Amino acid sequence: MELDEALRTTFSCREWTNDPVTDEDIEAIVDLARFAPSGGNRQPARIVAVRSTKGKAMIRDAATPAARVYSAQVAVGEAPWNTINPTTVDVAGLWDADEPVDHLGYFDAAPVVLVVGVDLSVVASFDSQLDRVGVISGASIYPLVWSMLLAARGRGLAGVLTTTPSGMESDVQQALGLPPHVAVAAAVALGRPVKQITKLTRAPVSDLLRYESWAD
Ligand SMILES: Cc1cc2nc3c(=O)[nH]c(=O)nc-3n(C[C@H](O)[C@H](O)[C@H](O)COP(=O)(O)O)c2cc1C
Repeated sequence: MELDEALRTTFSCREWTNDPVTDEDIEAIVDLARFAPSGGNRQPARIVAVRSTKGKAMIRDAATPAARVYSAQVAVGEAPWNTINPTTVDVAGLWDADEPVDHLGYFDAAPVVLVVGVDLSVVASFDSQLDRVGVISGASIYPLVWSMLLAARGRGLAGVLTTTPSGMESDVQQALGLPPHVAVAAAVALGRPVKQITKLTRAPVSDLLRYESWAD
């Protein structure tokens, strides 16, 4: 597949056939993704492939509180979990509510969930002293995660990058044997797509790009 086509058509897939994702598929995907850049070439990724019913349910349960808050914020017109504008929803109450979130069934349905950890003991987090949420640590892991999705596309597979399980990160770390300094950066639910979407909704270049300055 042409790179341009893969870049334009790698969509977020949440519905899969019953076809298995083999160890060979997973290893081929990771083999390509490992060439992604990371700060200082420190290569901080630690990936756990989860196929068991119990393991996938654990990931879904870990995602549930954050997803519940997310849905409530969307319902009142907020940009969920943003760190700039205070929320009007009862985060603590929603977090502790004992209600499932229906749409998270894709974790259970996925043939495999690839949990991607980032070893923070080797990542240079240059913005750690700034008075805002950290973003730079992610730059050493998300290129690899996106390369995994592109590599999957090249093999006729598709998935969805999720971050909601990190809301209950310590549960995921404990269940998967990841030490506390390996942050849970993403859980990628993956399989063979029921249908391939080729037209993605994205803003035009003019919305994203200015020359020399953002000010008009
Ligand atoms: C950082 C990040 C977190 C995401 N978290 C979730 C998630 O928890 N659940 C989910 O269903 N999709 C998640 N997505 C997928 C987005 O919803 C998706 O990329 C977006 O809606 C565009 O969809 P499309 O690529 O199919 O057009 C996430 C994507 C990113 C980049």
